[in-house]
Amino acid sequence: MARIGIFFYSRTGTGRTVAERLASVSGWPSYEIRDAAPRYGLSGDVRCIVDNLLKRSPAFHYDGPSLDDFDHVVLIAPVWLRALAAPMRSFLKTQGRFISAYSVICVMSGDGGFRAVDDMAAIIGSKPRSILLLKQYDVLAEECDASLCRFREQTLAADRPGGGDPLPLLPSID
Ligand SMILES: Cc1cc2nc3c(=O)[nH]c(=O)nc-3n(C[C@H](O)[C@H](O)[C@H](O)COP(=O)(O)O)c2cc1C
Repeated sequence: MARIGIFFYSRTGTGRTVAERLASVSGWPSYEIRDAAPRYGLSGDVRCIVDNLLKRSPAFHYDGPSLDDFDHVVLIAPVWLRALAAPMRSFLKTQGRFISAYSVICVMSGDGGFRAVDDMAAIIGSKPRSILLLKQYDVLAEECDASLCRFREQTLAADRPGGGDPLPLLPSID
């Protein structure tokens, strides 16, 4: 059976909720990437904007297992300024080379999810096996379990023999 792990960054809790729900419906372990310097309040907002605008690689904390312990990695991160949130970008820059196969869930207010997925693919150097874009409103309203169950099935299918080719189209948009 494929070893699958969930790796998430969440500043305000949406991505964390998604990681917890996905862990609950799949049984996959989840691991958090945290800010080295917390991004509270207005100054935290400003740092998010500046880090993303300048494509900075901010420091992060991660004390989970190495990504090469997994056959398939599920990455969960927010969209900032129609791009991947800077802390996940930092994480992937240092750890992305250990990923053999991956899927993505992006959380956002409204748009920019595909560009965040493109950012991940550019750093990792390969396409994700499946993609789910979730709106914060739906996560907070607890209306994402059905999407997460479909995502789990897509992720498992991608690891079955013959299912491992990167998908040419983005298969799941919610
Ligand atoms: C600086 C900043 C920029 C953002 N830019 C976008 C954006 O371009 N598109 C979008 O849909 N949401 C955007 N958002 C909203 C977040 O993606 C959304 O609130 C997400 O659910 C946060 O996830 P988290 O609670 O796991 O941190 C932005 C949030 C911040 C703080």
